[in-house]
This record gives sequence, structure tokens and C-alpha cells, in this order.
Amino acid sequence: MSGGIERARQVLGDAEHIVVLTGAGVSAESGVPTFRGAGGLWRSRRPEELASPEAFARDPRLVWEWYSWRRGFLSECAPNGAHLALAKLALTRDGTTLVTQNVDGLHHRAAEAVALEEEDPAAAYPLEVHGAMHRDRCSGCGRRTAGLSGIDASTEETLPRCEGCGAMLRPDVVWFGEALDPAVIGASFTAARHADVCLVVGTSAVVYPAASVPAITHRSGGAVIEINLEPTPLTSTAAVSLRGTAGALVPAVLAGI
Ligand code: OAD
Repeated sequence: MSGGIERARQVLGDAEHIVVLTGAGVSAESGVPTFRGAGGLWRSRRPEELASPEAFARDPRLVWEWYSWRRGFLSECAPNGAHLALAKLALTRDGTTLVTQNVDGLHHRAAEAVALEEEDPAAAYPLEVHGAMHRDRCSGCGRRTAGLSGIDASTEETLPRCEGCGAMLRPDVVWFGEALDPAVIGASFTAARHADVCLVVGTSAVVYPAASVPAITHRSGGAVIEINLEPTPLTSTAAVSLRGTAGALVPAVLAGI
């Protein structure tokens, strides 16, 4: 076992409270494109074109078409070894909080997949600070509902509407220019403050406020462990920085923890 992996296991094994922050890199091996870097989602599209309240106001049909396509695409993807190992950690170890910037729902699905009959998968659901593709939200009254599939985005008239108030539904994700849900980011910061260690997996750690999670743990005297293909702004403060894929390194680091 490499020294870095062994050290990471030691730090995690000694911790009473663990917070995990994941980003797009944790889902890369499930076939979900990342945002930045080669092949990144934002390489081919300007985010404001489709992922902003202005875009939705201007052309809700186009926005729904894109999200509907992404929903269909995600339904073909499956959680990988990193999602599964993190779900198992959260289910079996009290004091673990998963925080994700991802909207792909793969942590959720991993929790459902690994929970034993007597375990509640909700214990391994992550705090989804940027929202979730698997939910819809009413653009009028804010009511949240399970994400619809098979949306007919051929005309504005066929787009889904709220059963309560009749306003148009939208995906329950945080768009550019929108604030994060204060309860969700607040709970993430609280977990970060109490954590003895923050495990950061597959994020470029440049988008705030989510990127504050490891900084808060570090400032509160906890350790940061990073798993990424390449160095990030966090690397210099990390107690352990492991280079490689999440799918291989996360299960290796968490084995037996
Ligand atoms: P990025 O695309 O910015 O970064 C992905 C990170 O994952 C990079 O640092 C890669 O080196 C790393 N990576 C890629 N493949 C990996 C693998 N197999 N194993 C380990 N690491 C790998 O994605 P995020 O940091 O998640 O926000 O981006 C943050 C936010 O920016 C997103 O949540 C999104 C975007 O704008 C919103 O949509 C609000």
C-alpha cells in the first residue's frame, strides 16, 4: 500500500467526525462529463445560455430540452466504486456527512444500492448544495417534487406545470446567478466545522461557497485529504493529497474504515 493511502486511512480511522466534499470528478468514471478540463461540459456551452434564470425566462422550452436530455443520459449512468464506498461509509459510521456539488443523483442511488434491509438509505443521502437533477421545483410556489421523465419539450404548452399553483416547473438545480439554499449550505458548513477530517474528492475547488467546506475544516483544526487527478488550490493545505482516480482511490482509502 502506498504511504499516502496508508496515512489517509490512519487519519480517517482516527476521526470521530468526517465531512466529505465531492465534485464532478467522482462521477467521471460513471460517464458523467466534468465541467472544466478536457471534454468538460462548459467547454462546449456557455453556462448562461442554458443554466440561468434568464435563459429559462427567455426560452423555457430550450432549457427543458437540455435538462430532459441530461436526465435521460443520467438514467443510463450507474454509481461507481467511489460512490458506493462513500455510501457505505456514511451508512456504517455515525458522524459522517456527505456534501456534494453534483446534481447527478449518483450518491443517492449508491445509498439505495448499498443499504441493507435494516439500514435507512437516507443516512447516506448527501447534502446537495447545487440542487439535484432528480427533483423538480415550482418556479411559482417553490414546491419540490420528484423529477419527471419523458418531458415533452416540443412546445411551451407541453412543459410540466405545478399541480398546486399551475406555474411552470423547473429542474431543482442552482443556476448561475442564483443563491444556494441557506439550510443546505449552512448544514454543510456546520458539518465542516465539527469535522476532524474533510475528504475532498474530484473537485477543482474553485466554486464558492462550496469550496469553503474544506477551508472551514482546516481553519477549525481538522485535516484535509484530497483525491484528484491533478493538483488544486487545496493541495497546499492538504495533509494528504492523493493523485489518481476516485474509482480506485476512494475504495482503497476507505477499505475497513
Ligand atoms: P470541475 O469540472 O471544475 O472539476 C472536476 C475535478 O475532478 C478536476 O479537478 C479534475 O482533475 C477532477 N477529476 C476528473 N476526473 C477524475 C477522476 N476520475 N477521479 C478523481 N478526480 C477527477 O467540477 P466541480 O469542481 O465539481 O456548479 O465544479 C464545481 C461546480 O462548477 C459544479 O458543481 C457546477 C460548476 O459550475 C453549478 O452548476 C452550480
